[in-house]
Order: sequence, then structure tokens, then C-alpha cells
Amino acid sequence: MENILFVNACVRPESRTMQLAEYILDRLCGQVAEVNLEQEQIQPLNRERLEERDAVLAAGQDDAEILRYANQFKNADTIVIAAPYWDLSFPAIVKNYLESVTVCGVTFKYSPDGIPIGLCKAKRLIYVMTAGGPVFSPDYGFDYVKALAQNFYGIQDVKCFKAENLDIIGADVQKILNETQKEIDMGL
Ligand SMILES: Cc1cc2nc3c(=O)[nH]c(=O)nc-3n(C[C@H](O)[C@H](O)[C@H](O)COP(=O)(O)O)c2cc1C
Repeated sequence: MENILFVNACVRPESRTMQLAEYILDRLCGQVAEVNLEQEQIQPLNRERLEERDAVLAAGQDDAEILRYANQFKNADTIVIAAPYWDLSFPAIVKNYLESVTVCGVTFKYSPDGIPIGLCKAKRLIYVMTAGGPVFSPDYGFDYVKALAQNFYGIQDVKCFKAENLDIIGADVQKILNETQKEIDMGL
């Protein structure tokens, strides 16, 4: 059975992004492990945490607590990330998570000539988002995750499903979400 890692950055109880994420998860076949970033409260790397991480890596302590998210990410078969579009990007909790996952020696390594080589098992990463207005290009949220996935983690199949313009006055929110659900039906 597929191991699906659901990285949930939907902080609002009435989150529309979460509605779409649930729609996707219902259509995937496998066992879902959720990382709820609102609850996890992952701290950004500071000097102390970076030194701790470097020390466990140097000591070969692969199962150290500080590598928990990286190990879980590395071993997932499919990764679903759900995040609202905030400030042309995603909530800062997603950045903290990606920082804890992007670990040289766990989720990627460098070749002798300095090329990153992915060490993740996952074949695909699905990103789902909703936005109050239009999503501009570059999208500093999804495009960044895609660059990490393809360049570092070695996950080439990266898809984004999004619903835009939900906060525009007069927007038919349910209709827009339904359209995105159709795109999910076609593209998943
Ligand atoms: C802190 C914050 C920042 C936001 N920044 C943007 C933005 O840059 N562009 C945009 O179109 N909408 C922005 N929005 C609106 C959200 O993208 C929109 O309401 C989205 O649907 C929220 O997702 P949710 O319903 O899953 O919480 C922002 C909302 C919040 C709360």
C-alpha cells in the first residue's frame, strides 16, 4: 500500500484549501500520514539547531529526532502539500517545514562535482492551494517547492491544483472550487 504524506498548512478552520486537499486525498489510494504544521510548531533553524543537526549527521545518527521530518519525507511514496497563497507565497510554517526536510545526506546528497542528487522515494508531489486574488508568476510558493522537489529531492512529477480569486467581491466560491475539483479529476 502507498504511503501518502499529507503536509497540511491550512490554518483556518474553514479553509478552502483543506476542502480541495480532502478531495485529492479521497482520490488517492494508500495510507495517509498527516503532518499538521499548525500543530507541529517546527522552529526555523538557528545556530543551536543547525549545530545539533550537523552533529547528528556527522555522527551518523540517522534516526535522531531532529531528522524526523526529513526521514518521513524521504520515505513517502506520494507527497501532498496543501497551503493557502499568502503574501505571494505560502505561510512561513511551510518554509520551516521545508528547512527541516531539506537535509544534505537524508533527502538529497551532492555528487563529487556538486550536482544535487535526490534521495527521496516519492515519484510525485501534489501541491494544492487557494488564493484570494490571482496567482502571479513566478509563484513564490509552488514554483519554489517545485524547484526544491525537482532539483534537490529528485521528485520530477510535480503538479499544482489551485483555485484563484476566491476573495473577490461577488465571487462564486463554490463554483470556483468545483472547477478546480474538475481539474483534479482530469489531472490527478
Ligand atoms: C496572511 C494572508 C496573506 C494573504 N496573501 C494573499 C496574496 O498575496 N494574494 C492573494 O491572492 N491572496 C492572499 N490572501 C488570501 C488567501 O490566499 C485566500 O483567502 C485563500 O483562499 C485562503 O485559503 P484558506 O481558505 O485555505 O485559508 C492572503 C490571506 C492571508 C490570511
